[in-house]
Amino acid sequence: MKEVIYEGLTFEPYITSDRIQTRVQELGKVIMEDCRDKNPLFLCVLNGAFAFASDLFRAVEGIDAEISFIRLKSYEGMGSTGKVKQVMGLGENLKGRTVIIIEDIVDTGNTIHNLIHDLKEQDPAEIRIATLLFKPDALEKPVKPDYVGFEIPKKFIIGFGLDLNGKARNLKDIYVLKED
Ligand code: HPA
Ligand code: MG
Repeated sequence: MKEVIYEGLTFEPYITSDRIQTRVQELGKVIMEDCRDKNPLFLCVLNGAFAFASDLFRAVEGIDAEISFIRLKSYEGMGSTGKVKQVMGLGENLKGRTVIIIEDIVDTGNTIHNLIHDLKEQDPAEIRIATLLFKPDALEKPVKPDYVGFEIPKKFIIGFGLDLNGKARNLKDIYVLKED
């Protein structure tokens, strides 16, 4: 695997697609054990989680489950600590459901913290979080993911759904910004 360059920044290989796939299958098995009779509703947070959600949802084929999609976006100019607004709404009724939020990454935790607050208004039975990546050192909100693919340090990464200004989501592997 080689380095890749986006917007003049160099990124080096970090997590191979093989490791990602192995880990996703492991998470799928655990979720199936935990949710066998719960008919969970997976909620994929677009855009970044599309790749992880696609693989994770098919890794739970042994249980009854549904998937839906929600699109969140930070308000312009307020960065990751800003308010998030729901761009594409949710059609499903969540009352009494087990909801499993699928995220690509939990970084500051602001996005998911706001989302959980909004979802709770619909009175779900429980809300769990499945995230491919977790940066515990970046956390600003009391958020505790239930299913974590990889804990990583506070570094900028791209690939497998994660972007730099909309680019690099189509990389099969995950790359980290090279520091020199
Ligand atoms: N990379 C891409 N998008 C992100 C990251 C990251 O490290 N953290 C939060 N969103
Ligand atoms: Mg992004």
